[in-house]
Amino acid sequence: MERSPNKLIPHDLATVPGLDELEASRVRVGQVSAEVEAIGIGVFSDGDLPSGLGFARADLEAAGFSATEGTSLVLPGIGVADQILIGLGERSGLSDRVLRDAAATLARAAARRSVLGLRIDDIAGVEPAAAIQSLAEGALLARYRYTVLTAASKHVPLGELTLEMPTGEADPEAAVAEATVRVRAAVVARDLANTPPGHLTAVNMGEIATELGGRFGFEVEIYGKQQLIELGCGGLLGVNQGSTEEPRMVVLRYRPEGTATGKLGLIGKGIMYDSGGISLKPSDPMHLLMKMDMGGAAAVLGAFTGLRDSGVQAEVIGWLMCTDNMPSGTSYKLGDVLTARGGTTIEVKNTDAEGRLVMSDAFAFANEAGVDAIVDIATLTGAALVSLGGHVAALLGNDDGVIGAVREASAATDEQVWQLPLVRKYRKQLDSDIADISNLGGPFAGTITAALFLDHFAQGTPWAHLDIAGTMQVDADDSWRTKGATGFGARLLLDLAHNFAPND
Ligand code: BES
Ligand code: ZN
Ligand code: MN
Repeated sequence: MERSPNKLIPHDLATVPGLDELEASRVRVGQVSAEVEAIGIGVFSDGDLPSGLGFARADLEAAGFSATEGTSLVLPGIGVADQILIGLGERSGLSDRVLRDAAATLARAAARRSVLGLRIDDIAGVEPAAAIQSLAEGALLARYRYTVLTAASKHVPLGELTLEMPTGEADPEAAVAEATVRVRAAVVARDLANTPPGHLTAVNMGEIATELGGRFGFEVEIYGKQQLIELGCGGLLGVNQGSTEEPRMVVLRYRPEGTATGKLGLIGKGIMYDSGGISLKPSDPMHLLMKMDMGGAAAVLGAFTGLRDSGVQAEVIGWLMCTDNMPSGTSYKLGDVLTARGGTTIEVKNTDAEGRLVMSDAFAFANEAGVDAIVDIATLTGAALVSLGGHVAALLGNDDGVIGAVREASAATDEQVWQLPLVRKYRKQLDSDIADISNLGGPFAGTITAALFLDHFAQGTPWAHLDIAGTMQVDADDSWRTKGATGFGARLLLDLAHNFAPND
């Protein structure tokens, strides 16, 4: 494996550390044993309290616990298990999402405990299999931590969680297995985005993808600089020009057993570090986060780790467009014109609008591969963060069918999205005097003009675009999200692939 100088730090990140921890955690459904270190008990804010609790509603209220969603009350046990009351809100409002978040609340309230139980007597109208899956997801996602570079981490991995709950006709093991596959997708995406830029170059991204492909059942093809030149990938090569690290286009391919139900193309922006290039970014805290500018590529790669084990029936092809964006004597410059694969010429009016450039080549490959639909995911515009904040990703596209499918996957995974209009009137802001298109829109609606740039390369293929600049990370733990990279999009894309059925 090639190593860059700052890898003298003794950590070999050829693999993804969070995966090992996930594989060592166990979730089971059954009776909570007396041996657990902490037991969570789900409590609604209305109706009856769980049986045998030993408290009246008034006692709980007096202790400041009214069992609203997201709240908890820890009753430390001395010599016995801690009891942790977990608020579920009103019984009529119980949902997959509430259960996912409730298990996350327990995993956090019992952060120093390894062996946990969670008792939920009543899952109201929620389907048992979905309830089990959501609870397992919530606990595993919330317990994630990126610790490989810390000598004295206090993090306690989740050893075992027992869910004591009604199971109806559900197959508990299958539900837990599906949850683990989905969490794996997110953990891979988080680990990659949390990794410092000096530890994770485009070359490393290719190596890690190869390893994951071997392990989780997908093919990986790596394209280096010379091949990218031969293939005419002017977008990716242009952005890479200022870097001492080679670019990589990493192509992932999943083929289901039997006849595929359709062919889905996923494109991920993989800017390993975005300095802005010659249009250099200032050194403010936001730009400290630019190691996560490969969050889109990380989400696609994460989703691929779940395709086989979640039984996806569609063929899925992924393009990870990886390079850093650096200023140097060899950098691409303002006013340069790049020729993307497919021949479109692009005038570079700002080297910090680089994500759309690297992705332009990938759209050409997706169209050549004859995919039924393209979904791209990118930390593309600061404007997405400004308009929708850190909780909601921007969704745009040219096709109501694909957009609708993304919205359904979003609802199923609680990775929230909000559709913005693809206002074609704004397209002229991208006009160039000397090339087919420019990479910079006007001062307003930056998320929309960025999507309009991509729309040019989608060329009418049904397409949806996720701008995850706002949702790629959080400053503090919150529900299923953990401080740092959120892995946003990995579970959503996996769910999307799972239900993918192209338009007739
Ligand atoms: N990677 C950034 C977008 C970004 C900003 C992601 C904040 C996450 C948090 C992207 O490459 C970028 O620099 N976009 C510019 C585009 C502009 C030059 C048209 C932006 O949003 O300012
Ligand atoms: Zn960027
Ligand atoms: Mn940029």
